[in-house]
Amino acid sequence: MTAEQAAKEIQVLTEQINYHNDLYYQQHRSEISDYEFDQLLKKLQALEEQFPTLKQMDSPTQRVGGTITKNFQQVVHQYPMLSLGNTYSPEELTDFDARVAKGLEGEAYEYFCELKFDGVSISLIYEEGILVRAVTRGDGVQGDDVTTNVRTIRSIPLRIKNHQVPARFEVRGEIFLSKEIFLQLNKDREDIGEEKYANARNTASGTLKMQDSGEVARRKLNCFVYYLLGEENNISTHEESIHLLEKWGFNVSPTYAKCASIESVLHYIDSWEKKRLDLPLETDGVVVKVNKLAQQQQLGFTAKSPRWATSFKYKAESVSTRLNAITYQVGRTGAITPVAELEPVFLAGTTVKRASLHNANEIERLGLCIGDYVFVEKGGEIIPKVTSVDLSKREAARFPVQYISHCPECGTALTREEGEAQHYCPNSLGCAPQIRGRIEHFIQRKAMDIDSLGEQTIKQLNELGLVKSPADLYDLSKNDFLKLDKVKDKSAQNMLDGIVASRQAAFESVLFAIGIRHVGKTVAEKIARHFKNMEAIAKASIEDLLKAPEVGEKIAQSVYTFFRDERNQREIERLKMAGLAMESNSKEPEKESDALGGKSFVISGVFENYERDELQEIILKNGGRILSGVSGKLDYLVAGDNMGPSKREKAEKLGVTIISEKEFEELLKKG
Ligand code: IVH
Repeated sequence: MTAEQAAKEIQVLTEQINYHNDLYYQQHRSEISDYEFDQLLKKLQALEEQFPTLKQMDSPTQRVGGTITKNFQQVVHQYPMLSLGNTYSPEELTDFDARVAKGLEGEAYEYFCELKFDGVSISLIYEEGILVRAVTRGDGVQGDDVTTNVRTIRSIPLRIKNHQVPARFEVRGEIFLSKEIFLQLNKDREDIGEEKYANARNTASGTLKMQDSGEVARRKLNCFVYYLLGEENNISTHEESIHLLEKWGFNVSPTYAKCASIESVLHYIDSWEKKRLDLPLETDGVVVKVNKLAQQQQLGFTAKSPRWATSFKYKAESVSTRLNAITYQVGRTGAITPVAELEPVFLAGTTVKRASLHNANEIERLGLCIGDYVFVEKGGEIIPKVTSVDLSKREAARFPVQYISHCPECGTALTREEGEAQHYCPNSLGCAPQIRGRIEHFIQRKAMDIDSLGEQTIKQLNELGLVKSPADLYDLSKNDFLKLDKVKDKSAQNMLDGIVASRQAAFESVLFAIGIRHVGKTVAEKIARHFKNMEAIAKASIEDLLKAPEVGEKIAQSVYTFFRDERNQREIERLKMAGLAMESNSKEPEKESDALGGKSFVISGVFENYERDELQEIILKNGGRILSGVSGKLDYLVAGDNMGPSKREKAEKLGVTIISEKEFEELLKKG
């Protein structure tokens, strides 16, 4: 291909990709599958690699990342990034209003209200309509240049199209991980034996500072913008600037409202107190801004914050309850998680009895004593957390909790790696919850999919000494199952059939099922397809492993170590003898059926057996369409856990059929 041909092809591909991207992110529709979209991107990427001089600064390939940044450059903000004053009560807010009225010397004014998004603030600089730089807040005066990472965020335009824009302007916004993606991320981490993240905000912040922008792209950050700065925007109110941002293709949360008086601001605050919990991201208050820009200027700034704006913080619902005990859970990888056992207490809609304390450091930080009264809040409105000790209720002479030194399950001395927060039980082969955990991991749907067995069955099989490792499952006879409580002929046969059927599972699933630390389902698929068979993976050096897609140092090291352990070698040999797939015969996904022919779906919430991507792919592969919002045109809303009640309400009002994960599977089967 000549450079000229390449330039043409690059242009065509870029236009196609941008078209589908806009369709997806602005209009929430899609005309092609994720797979087809990825193919277009890959083609463009290959051409850009071949002809590096033809790569455009706003190329859509920036969205998939791949650049490694070792150290982020410090950049001084043109306009400092200030904080906002806080108010906590209607009285304090009325005081703010009085100061505004006084500052404006009797002139009429109105407010513009937005929610206060709990994410990571970002400054986006555009020159000639192209995103040239993205900088974190830092200390307000200077921050880190995180441009390559921010370019992977699909809802941030890389170029403003079809609109006259100023030569240079700056947009401020909040980068966040949606609640849904955060929960999914934690579920995935649990699968591969990593400690769960404590909250979405810190995770978003950590993600933004990752060195590998490819990993950032996979995390699916999002961004709401709320502030336009620049000298030549030709607008006179904040409201107009918000409408301009919407018109230019930025993601603005539609939750804003103009308020004529402070009473109407208070009404806005009231109306969002509960509704905000249904939003896709965490919010912790409301930001109140004087609408007219000339009046903003007149009011000016203090050293730290604008006089023309303030925030109102919602009270995080907090209750005090007794810490009855601390118990310790042992995970599949031996990781120990301390759990606060609380006197049951009602909090934000549910009864809370337990809360994770994460690790020993957290217990020390809180200074917990058994019998203390502690304050409990719902972090991110979902996961209960202990925030502090209610010292007013502490009785004298209590002693701080002593962290355990030995495994509560098997008595082995715990270990703690230098620099790690978590304690581990190293007795991986002899510690019951670790054994059970490995088998539960092995049989789960994403792995060998043996749904005829459950946690209770595994527990009993292990207690009877029949199963100590996944390979033992394949030596079981029907008679063995009949030894279990309440198991009769039919269910014994059922269990056996499930195990037999699992021999058909693909090599990708087997590789995931054997539970190599840090190897999730996606990584297992990539490794399986790269090396083709188990033997090649077992023999691979660290260097070889690093050549596989998505494999970094940590994963390479973990895979390498796994296959050097004789016990693992023996286990794999036994699985091979049992007839499990040891090589890949995977082809890229193709259309499977037309079972969902033309029906439209919205997926919401978190699912037991599927990742969201997986569900989407199944729908597309079987002839269905994905819509992103509930409307009268929608055929099915597939509802998972943690779906916002307002979405359900809307669907019910519009007469949309709401189906569960199970019902979706039935729909697929029926065709
Ligand atoms: S306006 C000069 N609007 O809150 C005022 N900020 O405490 C510019 N934030 O640094 C900020 N949601 O990171 C504004 N709707 C919103 C916001 C918002 C969240 C954050 C932002 C800012 C911090 C101030």
